[in-house]
Amino acid sequence: MQNPDAIVAEARAAFAAMTDPDALEQTKARYLGKNGQITELLKGLAKHSPEERKSLGAAINRAKGAVEAALSERREAIRQAALAARLAEEALDVTLPGRGEEKGGVHPVTRTLERIEALFRSIGFSVADGPEIEEDFYNFTALNMPEDHPARSMHDTFFLLDEHGRVSENMLLRTHTSPIQARHMQAHVARYKDWSSMPEIRVIAPGRVYRVDSDATHAPMFHQVEGLWVGENVSFADLRGVIADFLKRFFETDDLNVRFRPSFFPFTEPSAEIDVAFMRGALEGRWLEIAGCGMVHPNVLKHAGIDPEKYTGFAFGFGPDRLAMLRYGVNDLRLFFEGDLRFLRQFV
Ligand code: DAH
Repeated sequence: MQNPDAIVAEARAAFAAMTDPDALEQTKARYLGKNGQITELLKGLAKHSPEERKSLGAAINRAKGAVEAALSERREAIRQAALAARLAEEALDVTLPGRGEEKGGVHPVTRTLERIEALFRSIGFSVADGPEIEEDFYNFTALNMPEDHPARSMHDTFFLLDEHGRVSENMLLRTHTSPIQARHMQAHVARYKDWSSMPEIRVIAPGRVYRVDSDATHAPMFHQVEGLWVGENVSFADLRGVIADFLKRFFETDDLNVRFRPSFFPFTEPSAEIDVAFMRGALEGRWLEIAGCGMVHPNVLKHAGIDPEKYTGFAFGFGPDRLAMLRYGVNDLRLFFEGDLRFLRQFV
């Protein structure tokens, strides 16, 4: 019979040579497995006399215990070594100098929106907001574009999918900020039920809008700033004054001409396109279209519960991305939205 102590010594040496947990478990089979050396010794006991079995059995069991102990000791050692290796690998040198913080900057479009807000606040406008995922009603119907109105197809709308994966009839990404007009008027009327105490509505609403469109002057996501002034005796002359004053302050020059060109929008009547021309600089003398505007259509007031016999108002919708392009001399709208730091750093 093989000497149990010799087997223990051999097992210890074999385990010690293993550095990988799987290899270690395979080595274990050589001693403790079905045909392992210790197991064979136990099987061989049957050949011995009862007397011998007693002392031999005890010796083999001691050897078995010693092999098992050596095995778990080695398992633990391998586990500790792996942990130590990982800690060393992932070590942080906390004494290294920091990377420093890079100074960020306000995006040129955000900067432009903030500027527009400040200018309008200074003449008594407040700033309103509305959802970018909008209902058909506010985006179209409340703005005098009933179903099947041809103007709807001018908007190249992104519709949402409903819970069955079908194109929704009702939910869309707003194609303009004009739905905020409808929402704001509705909320205003709900708040001031007593007409005699109703203050004027004087509000702008900047925000992101979406259309299926992409080229050098169109992006699928862009910005608009809506404006709305509703009260008694609000006139087209007021509109002209507010817009001309705003543009001069925005571009910080009196050397510009503003032109109101007759146009059509379903939610205003009469409607106009606002063009601006600079009297100096690279763009001198060229008329540039920058906004739509008009007197709020009676149907739009009615939809909001405002009496068009008593109240009038004007509305306008600017493209602030356009204004930012003009102010900063940028010729491709998409540059604003690509997130290229080489471009954006120029405005910091
Ligand atoms: N919502 C229009 C558009 O996206 C822009 C616009 C035109 C807004 C005239 C107005 C307005 O408030 O009066 O094309």
